[in-house]
Amino acid sequence: MTKGKVDALLGIVFGDEGKGKVVDYFTPRYDVVARFAGGPNAGHTIIFDGKKFVLRSIPSGIFDEGKINIIGNGCVIAPDLFMSEAHELEAAGYELTKRLHISRRAHLILPTHRVLDRAYEAAKGKNKVGTTGKGIGPTYSDKAARVGLRVGDILHNFDEKYKALKARHEQILRDLHYTDYDITEEEQKWMQGIEYMRKFNLTDTEYELNHALAEGKNVLAEGAQGSLLDIDHGTYPYVSSSSTTSGGVCTGLGIAPNSIGHVFGIFKAYSTRVGGGPFPVELFDETGDTIRHIGNEYGAVTGRNRRCGWLDLVALKYAIMINGVTDLVMMKGDVLDGFDTIKVCTAYTKDGETVTEIPYDTEGWQPVYEELPGWKTDLTAVRAEKDFPAAFASYIAYIEKATGTPIKIVSVGPDREATIIR
Ligand code: IMP
Repeated sequence: MTKGKVDALLGIVFGDEGKGKVVDYFTPRYDVVARFAGGPNAGHTIIFDGKKFVLRSIPSGIFDEGKINIIGNGCVIAPDLFMSEAHELEAAGYELTKRLHISRRAHLILPTHRVLDRAYEAAKGKNKVGTTGKGIGPTYSDKAARVGLRVGDILHNFDEKYKALKARHEQILRDLHYTDYDITEEEQKWMQGIEYMRKFNLTDTEYELNHALAEGKNVLAEGAQGSLLDIDHGTYPYVSSSSTTSGGVCTGLGIAPNSIGHVFGIFKAYSTRVGGGPFPVELFDETGDTIRHIGNEYGAVTGRNRRCGWLDLVALKYAIMINGVTDLVMMKGDVLDGFDTIKVCTAYTKDGETVTEIPYDTEGWQPVYEELPGWKTDLTAVRAEKDFPAAFASYIAYIEKATGTPIKIVSVGPDREATIIR
């Protein structure tokens, strides 16, 4: 029997690439859909049968009756938020407990991790990361410090372990003089979440995945956040705290590098970023506002305005290299429909120096643009590549040439049908 493969579907810039729009193209091709990194800081907006869902921790294969869904060991889970997310799906008629399996090695986000997230951000002042406030950084810190609570701990002496970690957090908060918080209600719901999680298959998902691969089954590793938010390869310290790149697929699921098949890299026809940190292509003018307005660029988790700018090829090429992207997926081409010309950032410049590779210190660089003709055509009505306006076809060809990577899927509108497979 031919061994199955793990394909990765990754947002390769700053997240929010609109992955939810194309998952219904991807998920039917796989037997298992697995999340390998991150937690409820993600918000994958998926519209199914006319109903809108925002998935935070649960893989998007959950809408497809025959699929197994896995939350892998590289993820972090907030039991209360997980329960709310799951209840919403159950209310819509989806069965979860048989088809959603959770790694015992995934770490738990405690209510006090969320307080710590706020306390650390407050202490950073103007240098704050602009986190989602979901306790992501403090939870991964505890994992690395080898004091974290894991999903498997739910099954043995849980109360004792919980109290010990909570006491540790309370001590840190006292040291930071951050004592004005009350988690009483939150903690109650969190404990209900722990009870709820016991209904699920809390298991060794690395074995489950590798057995599935040995049986010739195919796995889709569904990324969260984006490559430039990766703890190692992102714009540190303005990053999330997990490994969001294709390397994270291996460590976050317990599968070997030679199991990886395609790496699909999703990007938007322009750039966005939520939260703080360097963003050389950011537009502070009317063009930026127009992109935000037409692209509906407001955070799915926090509702914050997303910072907007033109496509950044320096960042895109870097992400393609780090991930080994085999196929690109370009989203939201239609958002640029109205512009006379489209700019693309090909280099950064600072103090007379020009670079085409991501610099170590990403602060203070200005973009160098090339200008391409706009297509001034409503793309949302286009359903086939042969109907692409010439300027849009040139934009695609330009990006493919610059990155040396084929764009296999082009999305030109919110409708399912506005997805063109090339
Ligand atoms: P954290 O992951 O909550 O610690 O936030 C760290 C940084 O990553 C902040 O700039 C967030 O805005 C950003 N971030 C985290 N998750 C996402 C996501 O799913 N999409 C886009 N940005 C994210």
